[in-house]
Amino acid sequence: MNIMTEKSLEDAVNAEMNRPNEPIKMRGDQVTVHYGDKQALFGVNLDVRQNQVTALIGPSGCGKSTFLRCLNRMNDTIDSARVGGKITLDSEDIYDPKIDVVELRARVGMVFQKPNPFPKSIYENVAYGPRIHGLAKNKAELDEIVEKSLQKAALWNEAKDRLNEPGTGLSGGQQQRLCIARAIAVAPEVILMDEPCSALDPIATAKVEELIDELRENYTIVIVTHSMQQAARVSQRTAMFHLGYLVEEGPTDKMFTNPDDKRTQDYITGRFG
Ligand SMILES: Nc1ncnc2c1ncn2[C@@H]1O[C@H](COP(=O)(O)OP(=O)(O)OP(=O)(O)O)[C@@H](O)[C@H]1O
Ligand SMILES: [Mg+2]
Repeated sequence: MNIMTEKSLEDAVNAEMNRPNEPIKMRGDQVTVHYGDKQALFGVNLDVRQNQVTALIGPSGCGKSTFLRCLNRMNDTIDSARVGGKITLDSEDIYDPKIDVVELRARVGMVFQKPNPFPKSIYENVAYGPRIHGLAKNKAELDEIVEKSLQKAALWNEAKDRLNEPGTGLSGGQQQRLCIARAIAVAPEVILMDEPCSALDPIATAKVEELIDELRENYTIVIVTHSMQQAARVSQRTAMFHLGYLVEEGPTDKMFTNPDDKRTQDYITGRFG
């Protein structure tokens, strides 16, 4: 007999949603970061699983953005930053000297806290990346990439009649979706998002959150957020940082209902941070 109790059905659904068996897309192994003499990250081990949303949480200054920037070598752009340990993408060391950083950042794209469209048209914002990476053979192909990217970013309907208008003329929430379209346009495998909704109102936030959930099907996403509700809504796994250490990491529902570490408990219940 194969009768599923309500509880075991719920467990099965949860297990499916957490998809613990998804392959590891990126792995941080004993990651350290120094800014000059100051150490910002201490031996962080964290796996990012494919087609999942991993949320990074923790109080201000704990190293979330620093860790995120390690994943596509954006810390390379900060003179004082030194990264140690190992970070892999599909088991390949991304700090290996033979890695082309421009190509890496196309595979591991980034969306920032403040929407930052280029001072160009909506079309050009999305077309720029595919053009420099040679992803389109002709104008028709480029048009198609632009349209598809705007569609995936849930902006096409609002933007299709104003593609030649400046991206900066869109509302904040639309600009953030434009930046997501720009990230998607170069066919990344991983999208890093550093507090992507912090400059948005609740309606625009809801749209971007819905979008993140849809994007998970095709991409792997790592998101930094200060909103516990947002982490709970959009992520399958959550990693808690504190003072440069990874405190714990696990399925989001467990992290928010039954964390192992008291610091996580204190943070999610608003006792500090
Ligand atoms: N460019 C930098 N130069 C020097 N120190 C830095 C730099 N960026 C970050 N730090 C330091 O590294 C530590 C971690 O900072 P980080 O920005 O990663 O924290 P965070 O968790 O993202 O914080 P927040 O939630 O406020 O964005 C902090 O002590 C910060 O002051
Ligand atoms: Mg930050």
